[in-house]
Amino acid sequence: MKVLVAGGTSGLGLAMASALATSGATVALTGRSGQRASSVAAELPEAVGIELDVRDEWSVARAVDQAWSRLGGIDMLVNNAGIGMRTVNPRFMTHPQGFWEVPVGGFRAVVDTNLTGYWLVAREVTPRMLAAGGGRIVNLSVSQSTMHRAGFVPYGPSRAGSEALSRIMAADLRDTGVTVNLLLPGGATVTGMLPAEAVPEGREFLDPAVMGPPILWLASDDAAGVDRLLVAFAGPPLGPRQRPTEPMPQDHPDMAG
Ligand SMILES: NC(=O)c1ccc[n+]([C@@H]2O[C@H](COP(=O)([O-])OP(=O)(O)OC[C@H]3O[C@@H](n4cnc5c(N)ncnc54)[C@H](OP(=O)(O)O)[C@@H]3O)[C@@H](O)[C@H]2O)c1
Repeated sequence: MKVLVAGGTSGLGLAMASALATSGATVALTGRSGQRASSVAAELPEAVGIELDVRDEWSVARAVDQAWSRLGGIDMLVNNAGIGMRTVNPRFMTHPQGFWEVPVGGFRAVVDTNLTGYWLVAREVTPRMLAAGGGRIVNLSVSQSTMHRAGFVPYGPSRAGSEALSRIMAADLRDTGVTVNLLLPGGATVTGMLPAEAVPEGREFLDPAVMGPPILWLASDDAAGVDRLLVAFAGPPLGPRQRPTEPMPQDHPDMAG
């Protein structure tokens, strides 16, 4: 299985890339920095790292082209790239803000990445899969409660939009051999999206490793032909006092909005 993980340098994407690579898949993982993607990929068996910014259609086209030639095709796309509420409100877990307080630049950055980004990558990969006779697309999603939670503009709407997009993609691709599924963890998961200082005491979080078994199943023969499926996987929670270990850099341009 040849898999492109868009947004595979940390968190859920890295956990899925790692599970896939260690079980024998050939993986191309991407991130905004080609250097970072390559050094992350170097830790995984047979994996390659590629620069890809999902907000930029030219970057997407270049990266998909590279992934296709370096892997010898793409059997599965995992659309996982995303940015979270930290982009507009670093204290979103403890001090939610109203939608009218959200900075315009941050709103646009989240929608560009989380919604338009999924579309741009799928738009580039799908014609290749159709020409090859089939393929699998897995789009990462969030729970309904996250989509609708107070203080969660623009992350909630961006992911509600990407879920609607995924369902339409599955309908458009019906009977073509290209399948589309949604995958989400069974709860909030310790990743770069959750700032260590903002995680409330006593709240339980999942380990990104919970994404391994469901992505392996979606890549397996058992899942051939399965589409329009919502897979939620609730793995064992971490201890209540454990904190995220993978903070997003504070000087990242996405934090500026
Ligand atoms: N954490 C949760 O509780 C949770 C729950 C449900 C769903 N999700 C979903 O899981 C996905 C992964 O998030 P995460 O929680 O694992 O956070 P994360 O650790 O911050 O990972 C985000 C990934 O997206 C990449 N990325 C961000 N902007 C990008 C861009 N413009 N172009 C290309 N890649 C980009 C990052 O790579 P670089 O920084 O190297 O560019 C990184 O690999 C997101 O789609 C999120 O909505 C998360």
